[in-house]
Amino acid sequence: MTHPFTAPAFPASNPDTGRHDAERRQWLLATTAMGCAATAAVTVPLVASFAPSERAKAQGASVQVEIGDIQPGEVKVVEWRGQPIWVMRRTPEMLAQLDGMTDLADPDSQKKQQPSYATNTHRSIMPEVLVTVGICTHLGCSPVTLNEGTANPSVPADWKGGFFCPCHGSTFDFAGRVFNNKPAPTNLLVPPHKYLADNTLLIGEDDDAAG
Ligand code: FES
Repeated sequence: MTHPFTAPAFPASNPDTGRHDAERRQWLLATTAMGCAATAAVTVPLVASFAPSERAKAQGASVQVEIGDIQPGEVKVVEWRGQPIWVMRRTPEMLAQLDGMTDLADPDSQKKQQPSYATNTHRSIMPEVLVTVGICTHLGCSPVTLNEGTANPSVPADWKGGFFCPCHGSTFDFAGRVFNNKPAPTNLLVPPHKYLADNTLLIGEDDDAAG
């Protein structure tokens, strides 16, 4: 059974001060943690702290992430430019579902900016490792993970697993591709990133000439 998750109110915008940015960042990170924690008991375990590193605190700094400790089905959350970045190691079953997914709004990630390595079915460099910004592209809530077989009534009975945004009901598959007729206008964004080694990611830089 999946825990329900209700997001707290989004902080009001205050363009006159820098306080809004700090509040918004805290809110996004907190709701990400809550969302992952809410589902962790029965679905996706949260691997690591999302506490920002010193490098991440510096605006624009790239963030190095070790991913060898992420087990299949788990998500590690790190901060990059004040945003929660999800690094998910998908299971073979999750990957198999992506190939046959239908009713997607942008299955080939042609809308908005997306690096070339996000335009395949799994939207990633390594098929099993999803790297995405954990923020809904509608109004900025943090989606939660719902696996196949969830009892959550917000998704259809034939739900194959993916992400669900509790704010207005947008749904995404495990590649972050949004389903048709949802408020979110685009797929979850894939940040620039590259591998420094098999188990070492660098988020914030890539070698994608088209990106
Ligand atoms: S913020 Fe996600 S559906 Fe509206």
